[in-house]
Amino acid sequence: MRPIRLVTAALATAALSLPLVVTPATAAPPSGHQAAPHSNAKFDRLRSAAPDGFHVGTAVAGGGHHLEQDYPDPFTSDREYRKLLGKQFSSVSPENQMKWEFIHPEQGRYDFGAADAIVDFAKRNKQVVRGHTLLWHSQNPEWLEEGDFSKEELRAILREHITTVVGRYAGKIQQWDVANEIFDEQGNLRTEENIWIRELGPGIVADAFRWAHQADPKAKLFFNDFNVEDINAKSDAYYELTRELLAQGVPVHGFSVQSHLSLRYGFPGSLEENLRRFDKLGLETAITELDVRMDLPANGKPTKAQLRQQADYYQRALSACLAVEDCNSFTIWGFTDKYSWVPVFFEGEGSATVMTEDFVRKPAFHALKSTLWDAKKAEEKDRKKGRKH
Ligand code: G3I
Repeated sequence: MRPIRLVTAALATAALSLPLVVTPATAAPPSGHQAAPHSNAKFDRLRSAAPDGFHVGTAVAGGGHHLEQDYPDPFTSDREYRKLLGKQFSSVSPENQMKWEFIHPEQGRYDFGAADAIVDFAKRNKQVVRGHTLLWHSQNPEWLEEGDFSKEELRAILREHITTVVGRYAGKIQQWDVANEIFDEQGNLRTEENIWIRELGPGIVADAFRWAHQADPKAKLFFNDFNVEDINAKSDAYYELTRELLAQGVPVHGFSVQSHLSLRYGFPGSLEENLRRFDKLGLETAITELDVRMDLPANGKPTKAQLRQQADYYQRALSACLAVEDCNSFTIWGFTDKYSWVPVFFEGEGSATVMTEDFVRKPAFHALKSTLWDAKKAEEKDRKKGRKH
């Protein structure tokens, strides 16, 4: 738990004054921080800039849309990528490698290879891991979606999967996205799409949390979704559900907002207020999949104004999290455009991450770094003051 929080309004403007340059790997300290007793290398790292106990994470590219691309597996084959992954981040989230279709490809057969490799990498690099995900309507294997199972069998399958996967990584996963995207935009449960809710009823969600908690009592268990950054029908549905589950003693520990943002739309202005209301329920909150896409001009390169606006969105999302007491996990959905899911899903859009395809830092990277340093300095100052009184 961090002792103080920052005033976000002051921070939100800082990105606009950042230099609109993209800088290579050996960047100098951000302006205003030259006097701090850190080496240049350390200054260049998001993880070193973060306040104590605040984790800055990224998705680890692999599986999913990467399988359709003409490059080899990023995590195992791209040395520069791996280097930055270890140096820059203190938290990692398998992008696809822990999803059902990857980790449980056939009934009764698990494939832990890719997930184990990420968990081992995280340990070597002193990183925490966010597990993603256990109960979802998407990326389920065919044997499960097309299988002819009775309700009792399905329930046993889910229980066994959660017990096996969560149990295998017990003590090694900081936060699990137990239930992913269970509501639609109107705040209704995805009863038709989600095999578990459709076949077993809404009560299965609470059971998933209970089984995950039994398998790893220390892991923090989350609801995770997109388009829930603002206070809206969908986030209201989570608010009501988590309140009910907490009242029943179900081990729900967190609510996380994915934050796949776009410059087509305004920044979700009630993000901080929304996180705060879940915080007041006693839950941890987190930003788990932040990226900010944009419509690319004909030459495929973002304009300076677009990069500036993107930096502002990244910074405002980070500031909102920093401002809320138990929002201690901030993850971007990939750190380089080289491996981003965005151009694959959204035609004509891209440049959604904080580094170009050549790992050149964008203004958004600098905005995150300087915001983290400011938060760290403010906390250190506060701690010193506390000591005097
Ligand atoms: O369904 C086909 C399958 O039939 C085919 O065999 C396979 C082989 O290429 O492709 C399959 O679909 C791919 C899917 O992953 C499953 O592997 C899609 O084309 C591919 O685009 C998809 O990408 C992943 C996506 O989740 C799937 O929903 C992305 O890599 C991954 O970044 C993305 O991540 C999600 C989070 O988990 C949850 N929140 C939203 C976020 C962005 O969509």
